[in-house]
Amino acid sequence: MSLGNPGALAEGGAGRGVRGRALSIPRDRVIALDEGDPLASTLDDLLLMPGVTYLAGHSLGRPTAAAAARVGEVVTSEWAGLGVAAWERWAERMVLVADELATVALGARSGEVVVGESTTIELYQLVAAAAAARPDRRVLVGVAEDFPTDRYVLDGIAARLGLEVRRAEAGPFEAGGDPAGAVAALESVLDEHVCVAVVPHVHFRSAAVADLALLASAAHRVGALLLVDSSHGVGAVPLDLDDAGVDLAVGATYKHLCAGPGAPAFAFVRAGLVEELMPPIWGWWAHETPFAMRAGFAPQDGVRRFQPGTPPVVATAGLAAAVAHLGAVGLAQARGRGIALGALALELAAEDLAPRGFSVVGPDAADLRGAHLTLSHPRAAELVEALAIRGVMVDHRPPSVVRVGMTPLATRFVEVWDGMAALAAAADTLAAT
Ligand SMILES: Cc1ncc(COP(=O)(O)O)c(C=O)c1O
Repeated sequence: MSLGNPGALAEGGAGRGVRGRALSIPRDRVIALDEGDPLASTLDDLLLMPGVTYLAGHSLGRPTAAAAARVGEVVTSEWAGLGVAAWERWAERMVLVADELATVALGARSGEVVVGESTTIELYQLVAAAAAARPDRRVLVGVAEDFPTDRYVLDGIAARLGLEVRRAEAGPFEAGGDPAGAVAALESVLDEHVCVAVVPHVHFRSAAVADLALLASAAHRVGALLLVDSSHGVGAVPLDLDDAGVDLAVGATYKHLCAGPGAPAFAFVRAGLVEELMPPIWGWWAHETPFAMRAGFAPQDGVRRFQPGTPPVVATAGLAAAVAHLGAVGLAQARGRGIALGALALELAAEDLAPRGFSVVGPDAADLRGAHLTLSHPRAAELVEALAIRGVMVDHRPPSVVRVGMTPLATRFVEVWDGMAALAAAADTLAAT
């Protein structure tokens, strides 16, 4: 749905929230948004924590009854009912889920995606494989102040292989809104020595969305590969990995995709590239004939060579349910709803939180942002603690950031209002002490 002009909601005077705080948009008007939301019924299946306003889907998405049922079915009817005889169907399902994720959420084709390991392991595997495939290129590129795992993995591989790491300036990636700025920052560290550049899709702190086609072109101009970490994008912001010319990608599925804690991340390798990449871990599942137990290692055709060992079947059931749910609704529809949630949050931030010392980090237009609102406040840590006591779950990133998650298919408009009202109330209380 589209919120249209969220400013129009402010007409009609201040409302009074459940937490006793008047905001510029009345709470009743926001409840009406939920009531008129054509996608509201897609949220009916959510399993909710009683009394909690959950605005932390950028960290861990909410469960659905469908996901719980699917996980339960794998355990009770397949594991208990079939035991080891279920392995054939489980192995097939790993491939099916990856292919469905590719088409529903990634703008990729069947055969380009594998699921099974954590984001960190997938990132390690793809960067290490790229470095080994291009030994003449001795430089890895990342973005300064990127999410820790993206920094550590590059540093670790470079230390092991004696490579150099260069980092693009963080500012343009975090600020967003100016694709040329991020391209220029990346280009300033690219040259013919670079093997692979790792960039965020949706910035973990600011939620700025990067222009992947422009970044891929910049990498390709010097013959480097582009690897995208879409942990904060997948399931919330459409990806066109193939059309954008992205070479490699990874992303967590337990955030806005709501696949569950421990659900496998995805790894994407564009068709045509994978045969050049030898997996760094020569595990038996990555072998072309795993059950033949051959003496030497020969990788599977295609992207499944990046699944080294036995995959997490139970956790993948949550992912299967999440992908089916997103596929039924449609990512474009989910994104429209996500933008409307973001527009409401931005409107409240400007009207009600800015006067209380908050500022928005990242783009100030919802369609340039992913699915969380980032606010800076000098007393961020205390605010987040105060909200937790009030039953409002957001999170804090040091030193001064509060992240408010609005998962497109798991957050109600009124929860955004309640979260912002709680922030306003907590800021007022702190200011008075
Ligand atoms: C950008 C980014 N990459 C990777 C990860 C997590 O990696 P893993 O799933 O291995 O814990 C996160 C987790 O928050 C993240 O924000």
